[in-house]
Amino acid sequence: MSRNALDPVTFVVVGASGDLARKKLLPALFALYSQGFLPRDFRVFGFARTPFGDAEFRARVAENLTCRYVPGEACADRIREFLERCHYTAGQYDSADAFLNLYQAMREKEGRQERNRVFYLSIPPQVFLGVAHAIGGAGLVQCGNRRVWSRAVLEKPFGRDRASSDRLTAEMARVFEERETYRIDHYLGKEVIQNLMVLRFANLVFEPIWNRAHVRRVTIEWKEDIGVEGRGGYFDAYGIIRDVIQNHLLQILALTAMERPASVTAGHVGDEKVKVLRAVPPLTPDDVALGQYTAGTRRGLPHPGYTDDPTVPRDSRTPTFAAAALRVDNERWRGVPFVIMAGKGLDGGGTTVTIHFRDVAGNVFCDRPLCLPANRLSIRIQPDEAIMLHVVNKQPGLQVALVESDLNLRYRAAFDALIPDAYECLLLDVLEGDKSLFIRCDELEAAWDIFTPLLHAIEARGIAPEPYAFGSAGPAGMRRVLSRA
Ligand code: BG6
Repeated sequence: MSRNALDPVTFVVVGASGDLARKKLLPALFALYSQGFLPRDFRVFGFARTPFGDAEFRARVAENLTCRYVPGEACADRIREFLERCHYTAGQYDSADAFLNLYQAMREKEGRQERNRVFYLSIPPQVFLGVAHAIGGAGLVQCGNRRVWSRAVLEKPFGRDRASSDRLTAEMARVFEERETYRIDHYLGKEVIQNLMVLRFANLVFEPIWNRAHVRRVTIEWKEDIGVEGRGGYFDAYGIIRDVIQNHLLQILALTAMERPASVTAGHVGDEKVKVLRAVPPLTPDDVALGQYTAGTRRGLPHPGYTDDPTVPRDSRTPTFAAAALRVDNERWRGVPFVIMAGKGLDGGGTTVTIHFRDVAGNVFCDRPLCLPANRLSIRIQPDEAIMLHVVNKQPGLQVALVESDLNLRYRAAFDALIPDAYECLLLDVLEGDKSLFIRCDELEAAWDIFTPLLHAIEARGIAPEPYAFGSAGPAGMRRVLSRA
């Protein structure tokens, strides 16, 4: 699909000195710039509390830019041109004056011509609303101007539960219109997740068996082999359910389970996602296993436990692992468990969706010594993107022996193309006004409705997570969830 040339645009990154901005957003903008996806008239304004000037900001931005799309000598020129378009203003997040300074700096560079503006709020949740109001109060948002637009991009967490999320949505709407609000879930920008709809709806072979008659179980597994590594300040206030499951994994579930949308426009896809999420009954503590990693080893070296991290309170009960079997109570899926599992500090890293098909009824090979497991379709999102169908074959030879083998599609071997980072794809969509990979507010409501009763019950009852050693497969309670599924 061709991507359009764009009108002049100013891209404001609030929280520009943070990790996300430095390691993901600015490199993604450079990747787009170096491939010619951004207009020539394009500027970045970084805003954060750390006081430094344009030169220092540019030096920090340069540290993370790569030449993956423009190898060779031309890359240095692209980097120089890009950095010339980067500016920085320091100020407090809740200060209207600071945002007026930013406004002035923008006007000086923008000149007279009106331009489109993106405000990327890459900031801690506690300063979110203050910043939005300060941006609005300083007159940076061009409301009611039909010639140009102002868009806000918001990073999760979108609240802590249904009520706080609703309040956030309502307050944000006082500054940015809903149609100009882009709630980002960076997993939706990942290549294989975008492929889920294509795989299901552009092939004949999967959809007829994508249902309770043929599928026994679906698992969505998310593992990290690292801990919080100093990010405990944020993580401890949220925990693994709010950090990863309520958003990234639930989005994967929605795309795996939803019905075929009437078209691939944002409206139709969003409608189907909301419909399927509304068919998932809320979880209770009995449905989940919670864990927290303790000291263990990583590649043979000792690794501290979660509460040993200096950024985590010693008595924290925040789960770093959770597993649950969700139900999708509709005609297609009733009775098929969707097992979701997410954990930090585990024995490996990666995200995989597996569709476990039912056994072949009356399988004539099953009286032989080797009756192999039923078919599985594994969709590996990361690392090493791949789609694998595990099928049963005859082992070559004079006897009939069965063997399980893979029909596999490994992206790196199959496609002669660089796999873009999720943020490259999502930022381009923001600039082009395509909201199909962003979270609508009714989707967010439906997602919170599944998890809010569980989260409140865990907190009210002070349910302690079960310990598991760093580098292990997770807490024993996970087996209880799996055995019920
Ligand atoms: C973030 C979570 O949304 O996703 C982190 O806050 C997590 O805790 C990260 O580590 C994982 O992202 P990715 O793209 O590296 O899988």
